[in-house]
This record gives sequence, structure tokens and C-alpha cells, in this order.
Amino acid sequence: MKFKNFCQLTTVAILIILVLGCKKQQKPRIKFPATDLSKENLIPKPLKIIATNNAFGLDKHTAIYTTKGAAGFEDIGDFLAKKIKSKINLEIPVNYEGVETIERVIYINKSNSLELETPEAYQLYINKDSIILNSNTAEGAFRGIQTLRQIIPEVSNDTLAEHKIWPIASGKIIDAPNFEYRASMLDVARHFFSVKDVKKYIDLLAYYKINILHLHLTDDQGWRIEIKSWPKLTEIGGSTEVGGESGGFYTQEDYKEIVAYAAERYITIIPEVDMPGHTNAASVSYPILNGNGKALKLYEGMRVGFSTFNTRKDTVYSFINDVVKEISAITPGPYFHIGGDESHVTKKKDYIYFVNRVEKIVQAHGKRMIGWEEIVNANVDSTSISQYWKHSKNAKKAVKKGMKVIMSPAEKAYLDMEYDTLSKHGLHWAAYIPVDTAYKWTPENFEGIPKENILGIEAPLWSETISTIEELEYLAFPRIIGYSELSWSTKENRDWENYKVRLGNQAPFLDRMDVKYYPSKLIDWKKSKHTNEIIEKD
Ligand code: ACM
Repeated sequence: MKFKNFCQLTTVAILIILVLGCKKQQKPRIKFPATDLSKENLIPKPLKIIATNNAFGLDKHTAIYTTKGAAGFEDIGDFLAKKIKSKINLEIPVNYEGVETIERVIYINKSNSLELETPEAYQLYINKDSIILNSNTAEGAFRGIQTLRQIIPEVSNDTLAEHKIWPIASGKIIDAPNFEYRASMLDVARHFFSVKDVKKYIDLLAYYKINILHLHLTDDQGWRIEIKSWPKLTEIGGSTEVGGESGGFYTQEDYKEIVAYAAERYITIIPEVDMPGHTNAASVSYPILNGNGKALKLYEGMRVGFSTFNTRKDTVYSFINDVVKEISAITPGPYFHIGGDESHVTKKKDYIYFVNRVEKIVQAHGKRMIGWEEIVNANVDSTSISQYWKHSKNAKKAVKKGMKVIMSPAEKAYLDMEYDTLSKHGLHWAAYIPVDTAYKWTPENFEGIPKENILGIEAPLWSETISTIEELEYLAFPRIIGYSELSWSTKENRDWENYKVRLGNQAPFLDRMDVKYYPSKLIDWKKSKHTNEIIEKD
């Protein structure tokens, strides 16, 4: 054991002894109900779970402590306390100085353990009197907190003590993600979604350890982000939606609010400005950008592939430079998505010229370029990222260029595909995607793309057929929960029969969060789960 780790563990041990040693009198030991940590309904499934069949009694004598001076850790303690309050209406203090009434501790510890190899790795040790969460980073601690949230029972066990006590199954969880990139995309261009709606989606994604939200901010039907140097983009281009509804856009302050809210949940926002196709709303706002030679008017339909920027005009690149500059300045994450899909009316040589130039602009503003798979036809850098959505041959080209690939094959991962012929919303041009099909595929070797080239998985939600948060939830849930497991958990830890039981047990959480999920008949949706069996003997 490294000396530093030893010191840290000693600090944790002293804290626990201090807190627990200060109990005025030894209370009779509580007999906990039977527990089995390995059978908890955790999604995504952790790397390793070792059950010790005892329990930690969460109650009003519990306090949360976090490593002093470790950036972000106290906020994570506060976040956990808030979630405990909202789940079971129990208020517990964070970094509370007086110890007299504290009998049990949850310690969120910044550790230097070399076993924690990646930034999001964490270890959770659940004993009778203490829960210790170790992580090298605040990000890892935040992921670990989600695991803890999932195993806190909804119902207290009133037979154990004169006050309410929530037994948490004891044992050890060693966990780290299989893929570093675990994402959903939300199309706010075809229909606009408010800051409030996006925040709710972020809250739900965070619970399942998803760490990226890609916002498709512009398309033929709408431009949704304020660009101060080109104000007509939102004045004109933001005024429409598919179906003639009223549109909308994020001011830069709104966007910053979304970015900050996501960052508090260790979620990175990726902005997408789709070009050179999918640009009707931009070109109507500023006709100088237009390259298709046709008369321009606002568009509320669903057909795609008719618009293009003029790729040979320097003004177009000045415009793109301004847009990338303004958005990058308020986007702390490392990525900028340039779209690049379905530019059917851009000549091939113009498309290549365009993507080559735009890649340089994105890099000049300090971002790594992502584009839909078609960008591999340009001379893109190996540091840029290709997003596979339709043709594996493009993904294979990306691999040949040494690029990373994001896996979003439409027939498996598109959240806007209908579940079946009875679906209330969605499309089915790629496939019907019932809940089992969404889960039962193997991104690790899908279409022969080597795992080393796969950055991760993204489930896009296009919004042609949805305009409210309830409709968004209908298409996203429960399938996005499966994509979280496909991207976090190893192949060996994924199994449909086991997953579908754990998924059924998400119903109380989804109901509590007022999520209007699609109640697939493939799943036995549970309302609550509780056991009172007493086995504790010491
Ligand atoms: C896409 O679905 N056009 C990326």
C-alpha cells in the first residue's frame, strides 16, 4: 500500500472512530433484514459486486462527510443529501462538526489509489456503520453517488428501531465505465425544448451515469442558439418548428445555464451546428449564406437534404468562424459537432473543401471536431471523431484514418424510432426498436468496428414527431436506460434476462420523477420492492 493511501485510509478510520466512538452509550445492535448487494437493481450494472449480507442502517443519526479541500467533493455530499431528502424525506447533515448524535457515516473520500485507473472509477465499501466511497476525482465520486442513490430503499423498516431506518445492503462495489463517452442527443431544432425540459432530461441521464448530452441546435426548421454577431439567426431562423408551431431559442445566458446545470452533474454539453446541409433556417436569416440557388422561405416540413451553404464564399467561413467562436466561448467541454450529414445538394468536391476548412476553424477555437459519418469523405484529421449512424463503410473509413467512432447505428440506437406499429410517436425508416432490440446488440464489435476505435455510444433523439417533455420521455424511456448499460457495463456483465428485471424495478424512480415512459409489455413493471426478513445475528 502506498504511504499516501495509508494516510488517507488512516484519516478515514480516525474520522469513523471519532464519530462512532463519541456515541454516549452503546445501543443494542440492530438486526438487519436479509440483504444481497449483488441482487440490487443497479443500472448500469457495476463491474464487480461482492455482497456481505449485512446492512448499513441509514437513519437520522447518519451524517455525510467529504474529504476536506477536495474540489467538488462537498458539493457532491450536498447533492447526495438533497437526493436522500427527496427520496425518503430524511434530512442528514454534510460535514457536520458536532458528533454527539451521529452513529453512522457516509464518507466521500478523494483517494489516490492506483486501483482507480480511470477518472470515473470508484469503489464503494458498505459496512454496518460506515459507507466509504473512494474516487480519485469528483467525477468518479459523482458516479458512485448514483449507485448509492439506487440502493437506498424507498421504504423504511419500522420493525428495527423506534425510529425510521433504511437498511442498505452491505458489501463492496468496484466500478468503472466500459466506454468513456456515454451520450444522448436531443434535437431541439425540429421542435424546441425549454431550459426546464432539458434540465429534467439531464437529471434523468445523470442518474444512469450518462456523461454527455449532445444538443442538435440548428437544422432546416430552426436555429436555436443566440449568436450575438448574427442576430437574425434566432429572430428569423428561430421562429418556426416542424408542423408550424412557434419555435424558440436559447439566449446565450440560457445555454450557459444548461451547461452549468449539466456540469454540476458531470455531464458535458456538445453543441452541434449542422452544416453545410440542414441549413435552411440559417440561409433564410442571411441569404448570403445560401448555396442551393433556390428561393428561400422558412420551412416546417420533415423532408431533408435540400439545403446547403455556399461552400466557395469567404463570407460563409467568416460567419462560421463567428458562430464557432461564440459558442465555443461558452462551452467548457472539448468537442464541437459540425453535423455534416445528408448534404445531398452539395457537390462532393465542395463538401470536402468545406469540411476541411471548418475542421480548421473548430480547431482554432480549441475544440475537437465531431461530425456525422459522412465527414470521413473529407481529409479529416485523426483527432476528429466520426459518428456512425447509417453506413458501416463510413465507420470503417474512419478506422482506417485512425479516428475514433461514436456508435449510433440508427436501427439500434435511434431513440426516435417507433417501438412497434402501435407506437404513439416516432418514425420507422431505420427500424422498429422495441426495448429488447435496443439492448441486445454488442457495440464492442458491431459491424467489425474494433473496440479500440470506439469512443462510446450515443442514442440520438430526433424531434420531428415530438414537441413536449412527455412525448420526449415516451421515446427516450425506457430505452435510454438500456443504452446507459450498453455503454457503462462490460459485455460480460450484460444480459437481457437479468437486465429486464432490473429495468422493471426502475418504475418507482421513474414514477417519482414523473417520467411518462413507454410501459413496454416486455417488462414486468414493479411498483415497489421490500423485504422484512431478519437474519442478522451478531
Ligand atoms: C442523421 O440521422 N441524419 C444523422
